Amino acid sequence: MVRRKLIAGNWKMNGSLAALVELEGIAAAAASAPEVDVAIALPATLIAPAAYQEPDLAIGAEDVHGDDSGAHTGCVSAGMVREAGARFSIVGHSERRADQHETDADVKAKAEAALRNDIGAILCVGETAAERDTGEAEAVVIAQVAGSLPDGAAAGWLTIAYEPVWAIGTGRTATPADVAAMHGAIRAKLREMMGGEADSLRILYGGSVTLDNAAALLAASDVDGALVGGASLTAAGFVPIIEVARDLS
Ligand code: PGA
Repeated sequence: MVRRKLIAGNWKMNGSLAALVELEGIAAAAASAPEVDVAIALPATLIAPAAYQEPDLAIGAEDVHGDDSGAHTGCVSAGMVREAGARFSIVGHSERRADQHETDADVKAKAEAALRNDIGAILCVGETAAERDTGEAEAVVIAQVAGSLPDGAAAGWLTIAYEPVWAIGTGRTATPADVAAMHGAIRAKLREMMGGEADSLRILYGGSVTLDNAAALLAASDVDGALVGGASLTAAGFVPIIEVARDLS
């Protein structure tokens, strides 16, 4: 099964209108790498101006609420970000699972809200350093997949991102062998839950991906792309990763 690689950026709580100039180089790189899908998740306030500025680039949100509307001060819904120009949303990022105490059930509801509102979802899972040290990494990640996989999941709109918490923003990455093993375990669980559809679903690796480690990680078995935080903030950091994916495709 050949799966197109997806290189997705995540600006987190960074950026500004002025910083959207970086998207020019990223959109140009995406256009010259038609073998690869490129996407970038932005703070909610930047979605509309970014989508207006770069209509051919897949702009996304970093989070959506599980409900479509209601008394949830400060939250945004999947329909709202779609209207602003988002084509997808990240759900269940470990920073939200930790900072906002999001449970697997919350993450599942958010993914289902994305599906209901016709935007894609990148659903994040990953273990903490303590869980890896005690040998629980795979059990934790598989439990997250089982608990947060939305009903009606289909490969076209859902992507899983495996992001070990200890690798995010730390400069430490999992080894390609560890990543391949975890992605294989995730895919086996997805097959159990979704049947043959699981073979078309992309599983990204995330956590301190840069030009220096992208080739080794993207070449590992069952790795269908990367979710990139820090290195996605500038075209200079992100474009070379898109080019590595193109060269491997
Ligand atoms: P990082 O972030 O690339 O800065 O480690 C990845 C992520 O949290 O998605």
